Amino acid sequence: MKLNEINENYINLLKSSLLNELYIENEAKIVLAVHSIIGNLKLEPSSFLGVKERESALINLLKDNKSSGNTLKLNSKLPDGTFLAVPEARNLTELSHTMIGRKRLDNIQFAIETIIHEDIPGDLIETGIWRGGACIFMKGCLLAFGDNTRTIWAADSFQGVPEPTWEQDAGFDISENVLPILTVSIEEVKELFGRYQLLDDRVKFIEGWFRDTLPNAPIEKLSLLRLDGDLYESTMDALIPLYDKVVKGGFIIVDDYHSCPPCKKAITDFMAQNNIQIPLITVDGHAVYWRKN
Ligand SMILES: C[S@@+](CC[C@H](N)C(=O)[O-])C[C@H]1O[C@@H](n2cnc3c(N)ncnc32)[C@H](O)[C@@H]1O
Repeated sequence: MKLNEINENYINLLKSSLLNELYIENEAKIVLAVHSIIGNLKLEPSSFLGVKERESALINLLKDNKSSGNTLKLNSKLPDGTFLAVPEARNLTELSHTMIGRKRLDNIQFAIETIIHEDIPGDLIETGIWRGGACIFMKGCLLAFGDNTRTIWAADSFQGVPEPTWEQDAGFDISENVLPILTVSIEEVKELFGRYQLLDDRVKFIEGWFRDTLPNAPIEKLSLLRLDGDLYESTMDALIPLYDKVVKGGFIIVDDYHSCPPCKKAITDFMAQNNIQIPLITVDGHAVYWRKN
């Protein structure tokens, strides 16, 4: 189905807004402030003037990250000239409403266009929603395509990623103690949906750990299953109860395949255990997808 110009424009604006591309100079100012606090560097009020020209390298880096969905890494230059790597700066500088980047938003748009064009039945789910940006985008796409029959299911603990307890997740701790940025309350997500005017009774939240909620979730059919729980445990706990609900031609998108080794292992194991021999299609440096045949 071909979108008219206004709807095409709406979808593009939605992407820019979710990625905080529209106010990128302001994001650069916050990054500069965080960088200076962490590196104990002096910041003058004038440092915030003319940011677009003076900090074009930082702005270009932010733009690249918004396209690729890569995480901003800060290297603070210390007064003695050495550099201090600050991986946890992500807790302070992750400002967009989705962390998945533009290429993965394009991939969601492509999947929804295909589902509607080929009349593939079923709802859409993301398991691991954080601030809800990818689900907000799915809902906006349905609106632009004039589909008001499908439900968006948004599943999350709303307490961040669990501490690694499975052997396959050993050493991969991104729980609340390490990355508190990953904990977002359900109220906060609903409020964000409201800001985009996209919250209605066809958006349903599934709150709790996947292992407890997904096996009994009242979902009948899925045309899109988007996995974004990072861990082996979280990927398996979503795939096992939901894979059979994905209809023929439906999409399975794995957000963390290339970036989280435990997630990649879960996909490899699940495909082997279920004799799924479909080639994975790479979306960007992080995600892959396949369609159920
Ligand atoms: C990387 S973030 C998701 C990013 C999001 N898709 C976006 O658009 O920006 C991972 C999310 O998965 C959730 N999560 C991870 N493992 C989980 C589990 N086993 N049960 C419930 N939620 C989980 C975390 O709470 C977090 O919100």
